[in-house]
Amino acid sequence: MMDKKRYMFHNILLLIGASLVVLILYFEILQLEGSNQKLTEEVSLIRAQMHRNDKSSLSSPIIGGGAGGGSLVEVPNVILDERKDLVVIYNRVPKTGSTSFINVAYDLCRQNSYHVLHINVTANMHVLSLANQVKFAFNVSKWDAIKPALYHGHIAFVDFAKFGIKSHPVWINLIRRPLDRLVSYYYFLRFGDDYRPYLVRRKHGDKMSFDDCVQKKQADCHPDNMWLQVPFFCGHSASCWEPGNKWALEEAKRNLINQYLLVGVTEEMEDFIRMLEVTLPSFFKGAVKHYLNSKKSHLRRTVQKTVPSSGTVKIIQESKVWQMEQELYDFALAQFHFMRRRTLGQSATNRSTQATTERPQQFMYEKIRPK
Ligand SMILES: *[C@@H]1O[C@H](CO)[C@@H](O)[C@H](O)[C@H]1NC(C)=O
Ligand SMILES: *[C@@H]1O[C@H](CO)[C@@H](O)[C@H](O)[C@H]1NC(C)=O
Ligand SMILES: *[C@@H]1O[C@H](CO)[C@@H](O)[C@H](O)[C@H]1NC(C)=O
Repeated sequence: MMDKKRYMFHNILLLIGASLVVLILYFEILQLEGSNQKLTEEVSLIRAQMHRNDKSSLSSPIIGGGAGGGSLVEVPNVILDERKDLVVIYNRVPKTGSTSFINVAYDLCRQNSYHVLHINVTANMHVLSLANQVKFAFNVSKWDAIKPALYHGHIAFVDFAKFGIKSHPVWINLIRRPLDRLVSYYYFLRFGDDYRPYLVRRKHGDKMSFDDCVQKKQADCHPDNMWLQVPFFCGHSASCWEPGNKWALEEAKRNLINQYLLVGVTEEMEDFIRMLEVTLPSFFKGAVKHYLNSKKSHLRRTVQKTVPSSGTVKIIQESKVWQMEQELYDFALAQFHFMRRRTLGQSATNRSTQATTERPQQFMYEKIRPK
């Protein structure tokens, strides 16, 4: 008797238990469905937003990104808003079109509120004494009244890190095909340019062509004269200035990647300025428009320049120095194109509106806790 009763009681308990489990499972499923729907909604919201960002960034000049909203958080442009102490150094290589570029900076410095300073190195030397390097590095870092500032001059790269200075400047540069640069320099010494036509240059009156110079194996057109862009990027070490030194080329490449924010090429100056306008807007806001509108007035042309013959080109290209300088140029060009593709996208340049279209911001924050 007792056993039967207990047995029934047991059954009822089991039944209640089972019902409870079914109920709990049912509610669990309902809840899952709910959150699944929420997720789907969220995803389509994000998709729509990304789509909108893509579109807006293609049609309008944006600096610093499009709409935020949703749960993804964009990051404002730090440099534009906060870097009042920014120092940029452009250690320009002679005859790389640097005058056209720096004139843009001079024209914009008032409206964009920064200083531009020329570093006049005594006797056109490109290397400073150790004591002068220390002086230069400390003065640039500590001279707050002049910040934000853009320094430019014909000076080899100075490694601020080795002087124990905490805040480093941002380095930028332009590089040109080495033979073009040499030919340009060769004629510049003889004929001057339209920038300062009254100045009598070192070889004024010498009418020998570059081709003849190469034929006669004279000093002014010797391939060793091309050894300048490698040492400018390499810096202040002895080996940097030894024409054809392998370590110097490797060091130049390393510095180009690790120490420079951006290195453009003379042949694609407009895109260099576009990249700067997007990357350093506090200095280069409006630079593309300005550059295109004043292109003619800024061009500094060497007065007489003839293209070297194919025979001359062949002789030059056989030299080790040309090959190594060209290797640095090709390295810089590949890096510049790589960054340009990722920054500006494919159809970045809209020459009819002079607007630079940047790709939408490629990273966002989410899951920020605690709320
Ligand atoms: C640098 O300073 C020297 C001496 O004052 C001057 O003669 C020279 O023209 C200056 N260089 C430039 C490029 O302005
Ligand atoms: C840096 O040099 C300039 C020019 O000589 C000078 O006016 C300025 O006070 C110097 N700044 C510092 C922090 O030494
Ligand atoms: C450039 O801008 C103009 C005017 O906004 C527009 O009509 C044209 O489609 C744009 N071209 C490209 C390649 O984006």
